[in-house]
Amino acid sequence: MREKNVVQTKNLDWTYNGTKVLDDVSITIKPGTFTGILGPNGAGKTTLLKLILNLLDNEKDSVLITGKDIKTYSRKALAKIEAYVPQSVKIDFNFTVEQVVLMGRTPFLGRFDRESNEDIKIAEWAMQETGVLKLRGKLITHLSGGELQRVVIARALTQEPAILALDEPTSHLDIHHQINILSIIRSLAKRKNLTIVAVLHDVNHALEYCDNIFLLDQGKIVNSGSPEKVITPKVMKEVYNLNVNITKNPFTGNPYMLHDYA
Ligand SMILES: Nc1ncnc2c1ncn2[C@@H]1O[C@H](COP(=O)(O)OP(=O)(O)OP(=O)(O)O)[C@@H](O)[C@H]1O
Ligand SMILES: [Mg+2]
Repeated sequence: MREKNVVQTKNLDWTYNGTKVLDDVSITIKPGTFTGILGPNGAGKTTLLKLILNLLDNEKDSVLITGKDIKTYSRKALAKIEAYVPQSVKIDFNFTVEQVVLMGRTPFLGRFDRESNEDIKIAEWAMQETGVLKLRGKLITHLSGGELQRVVIARALTQEPAILALDEPTSHLDIHHQINILSIIRSLAKRKNLTIVAVLHDVNHALEYCDNIFLLDQGKIVNSGSPEKVITPKVMKEVYNLNVNITKNPFTGNPYMLHDYA
């Protein structure tokens, strides 16, 4: 049996104040896969992610989640399926790390319910995975940029979503935590059939971790498919004006991109 697409967009367009920023974007994503959305600044990556999370007011029937028009889901129903790690997060309230991570359970609680021991266990697991368990009692306003980014990822994992959408999830992380977070989510994709959609700027991370890539440029999908098919010297020159060589990472055997600094 053919596996159903968990995320699909059909000829998706988006316009902000009369300026078209997404143009005829059709993508399909299979369950349990790691999809990378790549492209230059302003290409429309965050906008695409927001549209597949129903965070923009799209009136057309151009986004399907598990085969159904995204608009047929209530906000709470969608939160049980999709979790979002935004490009930048600002939390001004004096919550502790643990309180923020536990907010990931909100879609599963009734109006007056408190979190159960089971909810707390899930939050502890997510904090352990992302390396923030030792920060659990600390105020969210007192964290470093990278710590905060990992807490937000822990909150998203606590939601136990089927689809995890991340916008530049490693932008504030040191190299150890970059690899750690990407490896955790890849492993969850394989073990728990979690579907990952991640906006990434690091092409070598995309070559290493992604099953599929959609390369966006000026609102259009200019290339899609497996990383080795999408990331070629010709495409990198056209889209980023960069001279590159694709070689092999001797540690993993996966493709690795070297580039000119001129
Ligand atoms: N709320 C908004 N109102 C008007 N224009 C917007 C809005 N949000 C984004 N844009 C514009 O839409 C285009 C696409 O923005 P988007 O944030 O999707 O890009 P991106 O690919 O995520 O870029 P980056 O790599 O810099 O994060 C940009 O030209 C941006 O200026
Ligand atoms: Mg963006």
